[in-house]
Amino acid sequence: MKLINVCGTRPNFMKIAPLMEAYRAFPDIEPVIVHTGQHYDDNMSRLFFDELGIPKADFNLEVGSGSHARQTAEIMTRFEPLLIEHRPDAVLVVGDVNSTIACVLVACKLGIPTLHVEAGLRSFDRTMPEEINRILTDAVSDLLFVSEPSGEANLLKEGRAPEDIHFVGNVMIDTLRRHLDRARQTSVHDRLHVHKGRYGVITLHRPANVDCRDTFDGICEAFKTIQQELPLVFCMHPRTRNRAEEFGLLGKLESLPNLQITAPLGYLEFLHLMAEARAIFTDSGGIQEEATILKVPCLTLRENTERPITLTHGTNTLVGCRTRDLIEACARLAEIRERPHRTPPLWDGQASARIAEVIHQRFAGIQQ
Ligand code: UD1
Repeated sequence: MKLINVCGTRPNFMKIAPLMEAYRAFPDIEPVIVHTGQHYDDNMSRLFFDELGIPKADFNLEVGSGSHARQTAEIMTRFEPLLIEHRPDAVLVVGDVNSTIACVLVACKLGIPTLHVEAGLRSFDRTMPEEINRILTDAVSDLLFVSEPSGEANLLKEGRAPEDIHFVGNVMIDTLRRHLDRARQTSVHDRLHVHKGRYGVITLHRPANVDCRDTFDGICEAFKTIQQELPLVFCMHPRTRNRAEEFGLLGKLESLPNLQITAPLGYLEFLHLMAEARAIFTDSGGIQEEATILKVPCLTLRENTERPITLTHGTNTLVGCRTRDLIEACARLAEIRERPHRTPPLWDGQASARIAEVIHQRFAGIQQ
């Protein structure tokens, strides 16, 4: 079977990587990679292909940035002729970004079977663009691969048939487990002059946190206080840098003696940096999951999460974005670190193998 695998943004690449490996056990699956080009900077894209050994994309749609409507429409416009020409047996999408919904919608309307990896996650917050992408992607996908039990429950509540849903575990954690030893060999701590266990890592990029000046300023105020006790490394997403510049906050952050700003890091260096951090401050979805496996306290600058298992089993704590709440949460780091942690079910490094097996079973015997 010819299986198109779509990726477009940084967090998609670590989800596609283990799948490409897992397909090798099934010679009947012929994987094709389509990169939409939603992320295009070397350190947001190419570096991940190199470090994770992902085969070069067979096609790159090179859509680049734009408003949601423009970006989504552009991906659809460029993906449709490719599907018509190559007529795959199925299209697999991962996660919840604009590339995910754009491609699944095109495939579904051409009558091509669609597969969604990381299905069923819900924050129940429709102000998040990703929540809209998740709901719509699941609604039109034929096969739904779920990473945590809440995903299965949500899909059943939405009326999906149990036979469409496969609880397989977490492909992002497959990648983490596969690469952690290699990550530990990087010299990122020397390069950034930080001591293991004695710094915090920051990543922020959600519109809710960085698109409103007052909110972003309040967060920077909290970091100003926190860095007096805990050195901070802010790995800054390009979107966040643009906003910080626009709001005049970049200079303020740069002037803090114990906060350093870096460009986005590669997968291995960033994983090493997270693994040895005293705390992680983030609004990312995937980092909440990675911190859970690394057992590092994760303070999530959001009011909700679509990944509730990281709260019940892991180190994740929702702290919102108010200055005082963020500072107060730092006082609870030891408590978070010491609370009992359990590995979420099936986050064992075998999710992609389970997915490949289901695909093989479902599509075996297809004639080209
Ligand atoms: C996207 C996803 C988000 C995901 C995030 C991971 C959507 C709706 N959002 O958000 O769910 O968590 O990726 O990073 O799909 N830019 C660059 N270089 C790049 C990519 C982006 O400079 O390689 C800048 C551009 O100014 C661009 C902005 O970042 O306009 C936003 O990029 P975009 O892909 O639209 O959304 P993200 O914020 O990255």
